[in-house]
Amino acid sequence: MKTRDMVLKYLEEHRDKYVSGQDIADKLEVSRTAVWKAINSLRERGFQIDSQTKSGYKLLMKDDKLSSQGIRKGLRDEIKDVDIIVYDEIDSTNTEAKRMLASKEVKDFTIIVANMQKGGRGRTGKSFTSPKDSGVYFSIILHPEKQFDISFFDLITVKAAVSVAEGIKSSTGKQTEIKWVNDLFIDGKKICGILSELDADFETKTVKSVIVGIGINVNKPKGESFKDLENIAGYIGTDVIRNEILSNIINAFYENNFVKDDSEVLDYYKEHSLVIGKDLTFTLNGNDYEGVGIDINEKGNLIVDTGDEKLTLSSGEVSVKGDFYKKA
Ligand code: BTN
Repeated sequence: MKTRDMVLKYLEEHRDKYVSGQDIADKLEVSRTAVWKAINSLRERGFQIDSQTKSGYKLLMKDDKLSSQGIRKGLRDEIKDVDIIVYDEIDSTNTEAKRMLASKEVKDFTIIVANMQKGGRGRTGKSFTSPKDSGVYFSIILHPEKQFDISFFDLITVKAAVSVAEGIKSSTGKQTEIKWVNDLFIDGKKICGILSELDADFETKTVKSVIVGIGINVNKPKGESFKDLENIAGYIGTDVIRNEILSNIINAFYENNFVKDDSEVLDYYKEHSLVIGKDLTFTLNGNDYEGVGIDINEKGNLIVDTGDEKLTLSSGEVSVKGDFYKKA
């Protein structure tokens, strides 16, 4: 590990406390000059590090720069050593995940994070820019050594949505609602979208890798770029730093996939659903329908009662009727 990365790890572990240059040098077994150079380099990269002649250096509590050290600090033991790659700017974390899978060995549960995306990708093929310094845009790659039957991943987007809701709740106290299948809302405005992509073998029905891409508006982006979106898009609005929100969501994602029963995750999903009990409109096989959302089944499908029949939706979009989007 580079001295700069080791110094940042040390400062993260002591965030908001002064640590002397000598202590850091002794602990990391490097010279004081190397520590000084590392601190300068971190500051140049935008980390907010205070220094006091007598007390040493302190990573400020309010520092909100994304870093693998800051994210890793909050992860549970089982995933403490996963690969975390943080980009200041990238086209799309999902696209980068695909490039990585195509070009090299990728460890299971590798996480790619970006502070800004120039070519973010959404469902239905839409492309967008994700503003810098205000959100978290990340992809988790599941790439198990064994290949899994495709049905093992039926609930992957449901589990991702629940993980985001739980992570936001535990770090900020804010309650989100989940619009089937995997958009998250606060006060009627979308704050998170999820794009899950599978690399599967159609013949054997087994999955080689899964990329779960999650974009969350954490705070209001600076500048004019958000103006056009303000009627429909929201943000969490919080003092909590983005590294911490990410760690909590990633922990929840691990728990929902590898610790909890599916039924427990589905119960949470249903309790926070924005479509169950609501009047919905949607298109299925080219026909337009209206109906009431009544349940989510064990595969994450939405069951809608049209009055004439009960329809099972496995993909697509539904619209909630009425004054659902709050005007800004
Ligand atoms: C949608 O609402 O249509 C899904 C949006 C998914 C956006 C995230 S941001 C991180 C990851 N990288 C991408 O290019 N897309 C996903």
